[in-house]
Amino acid sequence: MAGITDAEFLNKVIPYGFDVATLGGFNLDEPTIEASSLILERGRKEFHFPLNLIFSHIESEASLIKDNHDDVKVSVNVRSTTPEPIIKLDEIDDLDIIEINCHCRQPEFQEIGCGQSMLQREDLGEFISEVVDNVSKEVSVKIRANVVDDLKIGHIIEDAGADYLHVDAMKPGVFDADYDLLDNLCSNLKIPIIGNNSIDSEEKIKKMLETGVFGFSIARALISSKLNFDISSF
Ligand SMILES: Cc1cc2nc3c(=O)[nH]c(=O)nc-3n(C[C@H](O)[C@H](O)[C@H](O)COP(=O)(O)O)c2cc1C
Repeated sequence: MAGITDAEFLNKVIPYGFDVATLGGFNLDEPTIEASSLILERGRKEFHFPLNLIFSHIESEASLIKDNHDDVKVSVNVRSTTPEPIIKLDEIDDLDIIEINCHCRQPEFQEIGCGQSMLQREDLGEFISEVVDNVSKEVSVKIRANVVDDLKIGHIIEDAGADYLHVDAMKPGVFDADYDLLDNLCSNLKIPIIGNNSIDSEEKIKKMLETGVFGFSIARALISSKLNFDISSF
């Protein structure tokens, strides 16, 4: 969660039983950094760092997590208009997973072909395989569901060689995940799927796991203190 999930925040919530902690989203090039300053101006939180500091910042944040929780995989969720700055993250030893953000819906990111509008880019598959082919770390791609044809996008991401498909299975109008969509993706794709959206109870975790997902992720329940159970048994 932009502006929220830094190392200090993640170190506090990892003991709920998480085995992956995701930093960010961070902006890695001039166009995304400029978009984030416009977003900040209208009052929304962002992690906002100049280009010359962003890589060292991510490096020190990743180390802060590993120093406290060396058994947890550190992931970083990033936005960039081109693959090159994302590939550069491979130099950061304490990162395990690089997550390409094809999810954020702020118009400022979408106007420059980032976030959710990555899903409409002709070069989406090429963009992802360029990253996958040039990094030694695992690559996750985070998508927002129900924007385009999710199964078609899932195949593009799988064929590009990504290690995980992270799906915010948002269902417009309801505070619950689109379990039918996750079920369909899990039945038709081989790539491990991480299901996400609206988990705030053990019942919802069970329901999400029944779709066949490889794992699940939790965001808002971490800031609203609704997570009051150990998730490590799932
Ligand atoms: C304040 C806020 C900031 C967020 N920033 C990001 C982001 O930078 N990158 C991203 O992939 N998702 C971002 N998300 C989406 C969450 O990671 C998650 O996908 C979404 O909230 C649904 O999951 P949840 O119901 O567990 O919160 C953000 C969500 C919130 C509430």
